[in-house]
Formats: sequence, C-alpha cells, structure tokens
Amino acid sequence: MQATVAADRPLLVAPSILSADFAHLGAAVDTVTPAVSWLHVDVMDGHFVPNLTIGPPVVASLSAATDLYLDCHLMMTNPERYLEAFRDAGANGCTVHVEVGDTDAKIDQMRDLGLRVGLAVNPDGTFAMVEPYLDRIDLLLCMTVFPGFGGQSFIPSVMETVRLARTAATERGLVLDIEVDGGVDVSTVVDCTTAGANVFVAGSAVFNRPDPAAAAEAIFDAASSARQHLLDA
Ligand code: DX5
Ligand code: ZN
Repeated sequence: MQATVAADRPLLVAPSILSADFAHLGAAVDTVTPAVSWLHVDVMDGHFVPNLTIGPPVVASLSAATDLYLDCHLMMTNPERYLEAFRDAGANGCTVHVEVGDTDAKIDQMRDLGLRVGLAVNPDGTFAMVEPYLDRIDLLLCMTVFPGFGGQSFIPSVMETVRLARTAATERGLVLDIEVDGGVDVSTVVDCTTAGANVFVAGSAVFNRPDPAAAAEAIFDAASSARQHLLDA
C-alpha cells in the first residue's frame, strides 16, 4: 500500500461526545480534557440522517465549560440556516456535507463568519466530489461509516479517498487537515494515518472505555507510531 502520511500536520484525536453520557456532558468533557485539544460535536437534524442530537444551545454550554476546540460536524440538510448560530455559540470549526449541495456558498459563508471550514463526504462518495473544493477548505472529513449513529464498523475502502486527498494536498502545497470519523480505534487508526489522515474522531473507542483519557492517548500513540514508522522508512 502506498504511504501518503501527513508529514506537516499535527496528529489530533477528537473525542465525539455522541458517545458520552448527555446527562453528564461536562463531566465527560473533563475526563478527556488532559489528553486532547479537540472535541467533536455531532449535530444531526433527523433529515440528512435518521437521528436527532444537539444544536447551538448545547454548543454554547460546552463553549462556556471548556477551552477545547469545538469541531462541529453538521449532518444537516440546511446547515446554512444555522452556521451563524453555531459560530455565536462558540463553534471553532464547522463541517458541512458535500452531498447537500450548494457547497461554494456554504464555504463562503463559513469563511465570512470566521469559522474554520470543513467539508465532509460520505463513505459512498468519491474523491472527485470534493476535489474542486480542496483549495478552499481547512479540513476534509472522510466519513468511515455512514453518518447517523456511533458504534458502527469502520469502512476501509474510504482510505482510497484519504490517500487521493492527501496526495493532492501535498502536490498543491495545501494546508489541509484530513479527518476520519466512524469506527476509529487503536487498530483502524493505523490505516488512517498511513493513508494520510491526521484528525481522528473517536466516540465509542474513547467514551465507552473505563478511562477515556487513556483511551484517547492510546489512539494518539498508535497514530504517532504509525507515522514515525513511515517517516523513518
Ligand atoms: C457518526 C458520527 C460520528 C460518531 C463516531 O454519524 O459522525 O462522529 O460519533 O462514533 P464511533 O467512534 O463510535 O464510530
Ligand atoms: Zn461526526
């Protein structure tokens, strides 16, 4: 397998609060805070995906309670109606899905709002769907499960999209984070790193463990070793 490791981007584990206990969200955030700098916030609208989760009021509460970077993944059909509210609530970056369309306008809107700009593609999407936007975004989210629920199995075929994106970013000299989301754990993170991802969302592999901070650190360590191994080769 060709290695396309992200040599110039930080490796980050972003615990997904979807797998946390929503009745004790602040405590869940505290359990991972020493180990990570990002928190992944899954926003589902019951339309783009068959599930409902949280919105700007919860992001505002999180923002008041933590200094972690709030990485908001908007699984929504009409994210443009809510981007300003997420920004005002304290979101640092927002990620919209390419499948909902009108992507250029959404990128412009996020940029104008001062958000870091993310674009997501589902596991059955292609590199060609996101390629035209790579120069205009900060983060490409390659979904490694079909969005909607935590605890699903990692889909390895998505690594091809990650490899193509990392290769394109390197060739074009782009500063691009490539994030993977779904079924990421200490084992699957190795393939993700080798393909060129550098941001690793993990829900159940962090919050469903007895020591979430240690679990996040173990995922980081696995990614870090895999990258070092490739850079030394
Ligand atoms: C899926 C969400 C993911 C999810 C990941 O729709 O976007 O962020 O929480 O959960 P795990 O890590 O359990 O697959
Ligand atoms: Zn997500």
